[in-house]
Amino acid sequence: MKHKTSKEKSAGSRNRLWGGRFAAGPSAILRAINVSVGFDRTLALHDIRGSRAHARMLGRQGILPAPDVDRILAGLAAIEAQVKKNTFPFEDALEDVHMNIESRLFDAIGEAGKKLHTARSRNDQVATGFRLWTREALEHLDEKLKALQAALIAQAGQHVDTVMPGLTHFQTAQPVSFAHHLLAYVEMLGRDRDRARAARARLNECPLGAAALAGTPWPIDRRQTARELGFDAPCANSLDAVSDRDFVLDYVHAASMAMLHLSRLAEEIILWMNPQFGFVTLGDDLTTGSSIMPQKRNPDAAELVRGKAGRVFGALVQMLCLLKALPLAYAKDLQEDKEQTFMVEETLDLCLSAMTAMVGGLRVNKEAMEEAAGKGFATATDLADYLARELNLPFRDAHHVTGRIVKLAEEKGCGLPDLPLSSLRTVEPRIGPNVFEVLSPKASMSSRASLGGTAPLRVKEALAEAKRRFL
Ligand code: ARG
Repeated sequence: MKHKTSKEKSAGSRNRLWGGRFAAGPSAILRAINVSVGFDRTLALHDIRGSRAHARMLGRQGILPAPDVDRILAGLAAIEAQVKKNTFPFEDALEDVHMNIESRLFDAIGEAGKKLHTARSRNDQVATGFRLWTREALEHLDEKLKALQAALIAQAGQHVDTVMPGLTHFQTAQPVSFAHHLLAYVEMLGRDRDRARAARARLNECPLGAAALAGTPWPIDRRQTARELGFDAPCANSLDAVSDRDFVLDYVHAASMAMLHLSRLAEEIILWMNPQFGFVTLGDDLTTGSSIMPQKRNPDAAELVRGKAGRVFGALVQMLCLLKALPLAYAKDLQEDKEQTFMVEETLDLCLSAMTAMVGGLRVNKEAMEEAAGKGFATATDLADYLARELNLPFRDAHHVTGRIVKLAEEKGCGLPDLPLSSLRTVEPRIGPNVFEVLSPKASMSSRASLGGTAPLRVKEALAEAKRRFL
C-alpha cells in the first residue's frame, strides 16, 4: 500500500508549517487520508506561477523588502527547474504540492522563504493554481477538438458523392451522403468547442488574495496579481473565490459532452466495421486480431473510446455530489476535486488522439455503402413525394399508395426501382415512366437540396462553410 511505503521524513513530528499549537504530529491514518501530493503535484508549475505573482506583488506593495522578493523568486525558479526536470523530491509527509514547494523554498533560501505566505492562504492558492490548470485544459481541449474536426472535414471532402443508408430507429430511412454524416459530427464538436471557450471565459477571474476566506488586512493589490496571471479580473467575493468549483464542473461537463460525441462516433465506426455492414475498414495499425479466431479484425480503440466515456461521466456526477452540500467557505472535501479531473483530461486527450487517427485512417467501401443504400426501400419517401408532386395527391394519400407499392415489391422480392411500370400502374395507373428518375439512392440524395440537406450541392457548400467556421 502506497502510504505505508512512502518516505515519511517528518512522520510523528510537528508540522513545520502549522506546528505552533500542536504538541504531536499526525497519526499514520490521518496522514494517509490527508495526503494529496501523489496527484496534486500535477499543479506544481501552476502553483509556482501563482507564488511568483504573489511575491512580486508583495514587493511592489512594500509588504516585503525587495531582497526577500528576489530571494523568493530565485528559489522558485530553482524549484521550477527541478519540477520540469522531474527531479523535485515530492514527499508524502508534506501532504500536498503547496506545502512541498513552500517547505523546499525555506530549505533553499532560508528565512525569506517563510515570508511568501504573507497575505495568502492555501485556500486561495489552490483555487488559483487549479484555475490556471483548468484554463490550460480547456484551451488544449479546444485544440484537440479542432484537430478531430479537421480529420472529419478532410474525410468528408473525399465523400461528398458517396451515398449511404441514413437510418432512423436504426432502420433504413433515406439515402444520405457519407460526407453529410461526417459533417454532423463536425457540428457536435463545434458545440463542444463553444462550451470549452465559454467555460474558459467564465473561469477567468483570479481567487488570489481572497486569503483563507475573508480577505486580508495587508495592503495587497489583487488587480496586479490577476493581471500577471492572465486573468480578466480578481474574483469579486472572497468567500466565493475560495469555495467555488463551478469552473471544474464546467470543464468536466464540457469534457463529458465531447466524450459523449466521441462515444457515438466510436459506436458507428464499430458498426460500420462489422463485415455485415462492411462500410469501412481500418489498417493494421489501428485494429487488433484475436488470439483464437484468425479471421478477426477488431476495432479495440473505438470500443475503448466508447467504454472510457463512463469514467468521464462518473467524474461529472462525482463533482456534483462533492459540492452539493458544502457550506461556505473552503472545506477539505474540495481536495477531492482534482484526481478525477486530471483523469478526465488524460482520458479525453487520449480518446481524441485515437479518434482523430481512426477518422483519418478510415478506408471507405463506397460500393458497399451504395448497395446498402439501395436496400430496405430507402427511396419510398421519394416515390411518395413524386406522387404528391406529379399527380397532385395529398401527401397522406401518396404515403398510402406508396405503402401498397412497397408491399408489392416485398412480395416480389425486389427493390422499388426493379418493379416494372406495369406493376406500379396496377396500384396507381397515372404513374409515368419518369418515376424511375426518383427511385435510385443517388437521385434521392441529390434531390434533398433544402437548407442543411444531404444533396451533394448543399454538402459541398456545408464543407466550405465548416472549413471557414472551424479550421
Ligand atoms: N490540498 C488542499 C486542496 O487541494 C489545499 C488547500 C488546503 N487548505 C486547508 N485549509 N487545509 O484543497
